[in-house]
This record gives sequence, C-alpha cells and structure tokens, in this order.
Amino acid sequence: MTTSDVQWPRPAGPLTLRQPTDADLDQILEWRNTPEVTRWLIRTEVEPRAFRKTWLDGAGDPNDHSAVAVLGDEVVGTGALWITDAMGQSHIDDGPWRRAEAGIGYILDPAHAGNGYATEIARALLDLAFGDLGVHRVTAGCFADNTASWRIMEKLGMRREQHGVRDSWHAELGWVDGYTYAMLAEEWRAAR
Ligand SMILES: CC(C)(COP(=O)(O)OP(=O)(O)OC[C@H]1O[C@@H](n2cnc3c(N)ncnc32)[C@H](O)[C@@H]1OP(=O)(O)O)[C@@H](O)C(=O)NCCC(=O)NCCS
Repeated sequence: MTTSDVQWPRPAGPLTLRQPTDADLDQILEWRNTPEVTRWLIRTEVEPRAFRKTWLDGAGDPNDHSAVAVLGDEVVGTGALWITDAMGQSHIDDGPWRRAEAGIGYILDPAHAGNGYATEIARALLDLAFGDLGVHRVTAGCFADNTASWRIMEKLGMRREQHGVRDSWHAELGWVDGYTYAMLAEEWRAAR
C-alpha cells in the first residue's frame, strides 16, 4: 500500500477528510495553539513554519495518512494516522509484523467540540486503517484525565489495554496516569 493508493476525500459522518491546502493550514493555525486544544496534547504549541512543513512532508510519506476534517468550507479538525511495525521476530525479516499497526489521533477546533465530530474523524481513521491500509491493529493513547478523548475510543469499541500509573508527564500536573487503547482488524469487522 502506498500513499497514492489511499483515496481522498473520504467521508467522516457529516465531515469530509482530505489532504490540506495552504488555506486550510492557515485556518487550523487560528485555533491549534489555544489552551483548550493544547491542554492534553503531547505536542503542545506548534511553530507555524514547522507545522506547515510537517504536513507537506507527510503528504509524500507512505507511513503518514493524516488529513484535515472539513464541514462545508471550514476546517473543524484534524486526524492523524501513522503506520508502524508491530512487535515481531527478526529472523522473518519481511514478516507479517512489518507495517502491521497504525496509531491514530484527533484534534478538534474548540468552537466545534461536543458535536460528535471527533468520533466521526476517529471512526473514519479506523476505516482507513483496517480497510484500505489493511493493518492488523490500531492503537491510540491519551492522558487518563482527557475524558473526551478516551470516551471516543470506547464509543468506537476500542479496548483499554493499558492504564499506565503516573507514566505520563504533564507540564502543569507533573506525573499523571495515561491510557492506551487498541482494536484488532477482526474486532473492527465484527463490529460493523
Ligand atoms: C478531545 C476532543 C478531540 C473531543 O472532541 P469532540 O468532537 O468534542 O468529541 P465527541 O463529541 O466526538 O465525543 C466526546 C465524548 O466525550 C464526552 N465527554 C466530553 N467531555 C467529557 C467529560 N469531561 N466527562 C465525561 N464525558 C465527556 C462527550 O459527552 C462525548 O461522549 P458522548 O457522545 O457519549 O456524549 C476535543 O476536545 C479536542 O480536540 N481536544 C484537544 C485535543 C485533544 O485532546 N486531542 C486528543 C488527544 S489524545
């Protein structure tokens, strides 16, 4: 599977996921560094030039399938999807573990929070990962106190596989708990 095999745009409930234009990135930068958005992120404030470069570089990266979510003409959020190797035994060099996992993440413009949009973005990312990209497993992590984030994963049927006790460092709160959620391809198919 290469980047060009992934078809954009893709539906995500009332939203559409697609590759960003320069104007989209301008819109995102209007809310991306606000405290409501950065509070529970690992990558907190972004520097605009580096932010643009990351999106541009990602467009040519076969392991990066990140997209912006638009409602009409407005960019209301972003979805990130990155492919990684699973754990696997090295003597089978090109074994099924190669590029078998995807990580996902989502960020919403606070002006549009509370409408189920991030759930729709995450659902579309799972669909892309298990459908077009054919991965074996998808994972996502969050601070345990980011209730809205893990509620999304639970609504979609992902399983909390790790409750890391004080495994995550937060700039204001210090060492706090983190969660990792996961789902297998067969679980995704069974749930559809
Ligand atoms: C987290 C975030 C993506 C949620 O976006 P959203 O569009 O509001 O999410 P949704 O509406 O799809 O779903 C959120 C769910 O959490 C629930 N929820 C939100 N805050 C809650 C709280 N404090 N306590 C309990 N439930 C809460 C909502 O009720 C909803 O569940 P429901 O549909 O069962 O009612 C958004 O707030 C955001 O972008 N935050 C900043 C970036 C971030 O933290 N990203 C995730 C990094 S892991």
